[in-house]
Amino acid sequence: MKLIGPFKQIIPMTGLSLKGAIKDSQLTIIKDGGILVQDGHIHSIGTYEELLRSAELHNVEIHKLNGDHTCLPGFVDAHTHICFGGSRANDYAMRNSGKTYLEISKAGGGIWDTVTQTRKATKEELIKGIVKRAKRHLSNGVTTIEVKSGYGLSIPEELKMLYAIKEANASLSTDLISTCLAAHMFPKDYEGSPSDYLAEMASELLPKLKTENLATRVDAFIEEGAFTAELIEPYFKKAHELGFDITVHADQFSTGGSKVAVNFMAISADHLEASTNAEISLLAKSDVISIALPGASLGLGCAFTPARKILDQGGALAIASDHNPGSAPMGDLLTQAAILGTFQKLSNAEVLAGITFRAAAVLNLKERGQLNPGFLADLSIFHTNDYKEILYNQGNFKPCMVWKKGELVYNKHKH
Ligand code: NIG
Ligand code: FE
Repeated sequence: MKLIGPFKQIIPMTGLSLKGAIKDSQLTIIKDGGILVQDGHIHSIGTYEELLRSAELHNVEIHKLNGDHTCLPGFVDAHTHICFGGSRANDYAMRNSGKTYLEISKAGGGIWDTVTQTRKATKEELIKGIVKRAKRHLSNGVTTIEVKSGYGLSIPEELKMLYAIKEANASLSTDLISTCLAAHMFPKDYEGSPSDYLAEMASELLPKLKTENLATRVDAFIEEGAFTAELIEPYFKKAHELGFDITVHADQFSTGGSKVAVNFMAISADHLEASTNAEISLLAKSDVISIALPGASLGLGCAFTPARKILDQGGALAIASDHNPGSAPMGDLLTQAAILGTFQKLSNAEVLAGITFRAAAVLNLKERGQLNPGFLADLSIFHTNDYKEILYNQGNFKPCMVWKKGELVYNKHKH
């Protein structure tokens, strides 16, 4: 057993509902607290002095922190594309000179450019890139990261990506959760129609993901220039039958995706920058979790997801980085979540919920995102006596320490 503390504040993110608005006054704050860890899980949380007394009697390892510290659950980034080859710096320059998404794609940029570069990369090169990016996320307090395929767009290339994610996961302390995004766009070199492509992926790729244990989640990009709702429906139907959790890139530039998400009882609808009141109310009434991706809004210079309205209408809101080489190259969840909070007038509690337990729910992970006995001892620790300092500094204030499953995996003073 280990005792970690004392903390000026522990914010366990417990006792809050999955859906709807949250006020800061609803947050539980444990003052002068400690956390007792056993076998990678939280054994108990309480005041440090009390835990210390019993720890001394029972030969517990003590990790005493000096100075002011505040502890939050390890963050969960529920939507990324950190498995890719190459760079899209040219897209950035073209966007800023006024070119549209479609013009950039026609000029050889866009998702297809990353597909070409990802196909050229070996699996080992992809693993190296994932590990590098995941380690940086870890230093920002992110202890669980969802990672999508979707830059392979053929059976062998999608498998290469998903094996790369699986193997990177084995070498990292951060947990990677894979999602199959073979329906990211219609591959330009496919001999057949978009519906032939999706039928092939449904009948040949998806069953393989089950048998090879490569993914339990299926995503699709529903958008002009990607796939229509009509094309995706039979694909999702098959994925549903096979037992996959469904998630959708929805309403990014035009509406339509969120309706499919609700119809298929998807676990989440992500993006939603273009959602109008009709889509917001549909989502808020459903059990679909909305995911705001402020990194994509910042990357493309677009509107933010209407997070305030979603919460006020009773919806569940998670916040993710969408880290990818095209629309969201920054990959800094804490910065982006804080900025979304500023523009959408979200409480500290709502932003923190969006990157902890509400994000864990998106990934169907029951034992994380909160500091509760029995949950994983994944901890983001900041050098402050007041949790409000964290988002107030808009991402410029990083954790000083990160623990994963009860092990100290990042220590700022040693980096
Ligand atoms: O979530 N919207 C579609 N897919 C990604 C972008 C991927 C890319 O541009 O490479 C997104 O923003
Ligand atoms: Fe995305």
